[in-house]
Amino acid sequence: MDNIVNGIKNKLLKKTIYIPGDKSITHRAIILSSIASGESIINNYLNALDCQSTIKCMQNLGVIIEEKDPMTLRIFGKGIKGLQAPSNVLDVGNSGTTIRLLAGLLCGQEFTSTLDGDDSVRKRPMDRIIKPLSLMNADINSLTEKKFAPLKIIGKPLRPIHYSMPVASAQVKSAILLAGLYADGETIIREKEQTRDHTERMLSFMQVDIKRRPKKIITITPVKALKNVNIDIPGDISSAAYFLALGCARKDSELIIRNVGINKTRTGFLEVLKKMGANITIINKKVISNEPRADLLLKGGLLKGIKIDQKIIANIIDELPLVAVLGALAKGKTIVEQAQELRVKESDRIKAIVEGLARMGAKIIEKEDGFEIIGPAKLKGNTVNSYKDHRIAMSLTIAASYAEGKTIIQDAQCIDISYPGFVNSYQEVMK
Ligand code: S3P
Repeated sequence: MDNIVNGIKNKLLKKTIYIPGDKSITHRAIILSSIASGESIINNYLNALDCQSTIKCMQNLGVIIEEKDPMTLRIFGKGIKGLQAPSNVLDVGNSGTTIRLLAGLLCGQEFTSTLDGDDSVRKRPMDRIIKPLSLMNADINSLTEKKFAPLKIIGKPLRPIHYSMPVASAQVKSAILLAGLYADGETIIREKEQTRDHTERMLSFMQVDIKRRPKKIITITPVKALKNVNIDIPGDISSAAYFLALGCARKDSELIIRNVGINKTRTGFLEVLKKMGANITIINKKVISNEPRADLLLKGGLLKGIKIDQKIIANIIDELPLVAVLGALAKGKTIVEQAQELRVKESDRIKAIVEGLARMGAKIIEKEDGFEIIGPAKLKGNTVNSYKDHRIAMSLTIAASYAEGKTIIQDAQCIDISYPGFVNSYQEVMK
């Protein structure tokens, strides 16, 4: 299915919107509640394809998960040692988070399992988890020569490690932390850059002994039980980012986005927007279920190009395609470097966003580890390829909103991976 967008560059936006629940937190809530002791309630969970993949995998491992109502899950935790051998291959669909986190969880179980996913997941690097997990004594092997999925895991007793991560990745960190729950001692992880810390926060919320120490070090000690909890999930800042980008370059526009997660390991995009000249105010801050959230108030105006600080790359990794869109709207040069991780996401996101924006008339140059873009461009509608990547499809939709004429974004059904309802919300805001 294509998404067809008729750009209205000067549209004045005055709207208040809500964003669906955070994807990263939803995955973790499902997985950790599944091994907690007793019933957990997960409110405002993200009911999107990626999280449905996690739900199905946990059900295949014997966990009862029901929808209490359309916003809420009830999960009957089996306890830390209560998962059962799956009756078939665990299919993670398109979800890199699911395959990497579950690999960590499954290494310390007393059964054998196989994890597999779609064509995109089968092209994503798994050596980054195979290596540390093997050091923990795990028996985890790729069934391909290139260390891609499928992965076969024969559960074994694990030992703790002291591991310095060569890549900044919350998925890898979380895989090691989940395996660390089953190791016979304290596991110590040192991050390359601080990445999203939802796993640490939720484990702590469930009364696991996990600590952040100076120098980007995290320690975790195994426990006998995780406490069952009620979790309320904030709106996903990575989804809110599309609407911030939709309003930020429209003079006099005002958008209020309610109940957005503002965990500081995720708010880099707000810093980028502010540095580019956008006017954003954060109001009604509160912390629920150990995660901060707030309402965001955006006023549109003129943007200027900036060089993105390399230290912030891990924090804005999912928003970088949108930063390219902002670069096309801003006056001057926007530079992104040291972002080669983008090449191993759901698609090669450097190639995909550069190609899409160039087809719409942006002056953008692809670099091995990022891109450079000179704006403001007079964007023109065209046919563009999403490469079946949800974040590329949504980023190109925002670019198209500022373009003259009609843009056809191909294969846009992939948006359902992280944000079902995006197209409706977009249409509602632009009405
Ligand atoms: C995620 C971590 C990031 C991010 C992904 C979600 C997570 O991936 O890109 O969308 O929930 O842990 P990496 O760990 O590969 O950087």
